[in-house]
Amino acid sequence: MEIINDINQMQKRAEALRNSGKTIAFVPTMGYLHDGHLALMRAGRELGDVLVVSIFVNPAQFGPKEDFGSYPRDLERDSALCRQVGVDIIFHPAAEAIYPRGFQTHIEVENLSRGLCGDFRPGHFRGVATVVAKLFNIIKPHAAVFGEKDCQQLAVIRRMTADLNLDVQIVGYPTVRETDGLAMSSRNTFLSAAERQSALSLSRSLEQAQQMVREGERAPGRIEQAVRETISREPATEIEYVRVCHPESLSELKWVEDSTLLALAVRVGKTRLIDNRIITTKPGRE
Ligand code: PAF
Repeated sequence: MEIINDINQMQKRAEALRNSGKTIAFVPTMGYLHDGHLALMRAGRELGDVLVVSIFVNPAQFGPKEDFGSYPRDLERDSALCRQVGVDIIFHPAAEAIYPRGFQTHIEVENLSRGLCGDFRPGHFRGVATVVAKLFNIIKPHAAVFGEKDCQQLAVIRRMTADLNLDVQIVGYPTVRETDGLAMSSRNTFLSAAERQSALSLSRSLEQAQQMVREGERAPGRIEQAVRETISREPATEIEYVRVCHPESLSELKWVEDSTLLALAVRVGKTRLIDNRIITTKPGRE
């Protein structure tokens, strides 16, 4: 496994791979890898001859009051994990190389970046779209894998890729959960034991919502309210949003349809967690 820090070197390597007829699969990450990332990488392994993983904590997607400084980082541990799953190249650039002095070009996916997380993290999806477009230009992948846990991010990336005619296949991968249901996230490491217990209300409330729909409930407001109540009962939780919406346009729905997205963001203590679930109206498809 190679670790490449230099942008030009990565571009030359990608070009040479493509010229020799190899396909490149790509998994972008901010490091501090967990089993969810490893699942994306295993999926990536199947999608190309060469698997490239980027590890870059992207300053452009953090707000001034967010956790960029304290975001967990451990390149040595990440490299060992990447080696275990058969990654060929880690791309690990410096922030000054990605955003050199004078940098002033950004990508804004307009409507999809508003609402949900976009309302609470202004500029976040602009930062994500910009860095992902840059990484695509540097790594030149044929396919890239993103987790479905970040459902708005995935929708933004799909839209950007289509709108800019980027020649990359975008693959969504289902959320990987701990055995108790907690969606895997690098930020889970910030949770105390008591907070982690409270955090279980997120996945539990999503399951409860599916149960309500199974029993015939179709009103988004009543489902959102039940989810809010379940989460609010737990200590140290503060809800940012709970929203029933269309899985692709992310627009609000008047009525729950089959394959409706239920997405939420909650602060548990100081840690911001997101989760979501596709709710189905058809029995046996949950
Ligand atoms: O999902 C993430 O870890 C990040 O948002 C991404 C896609 C690597 C861009 O920095």
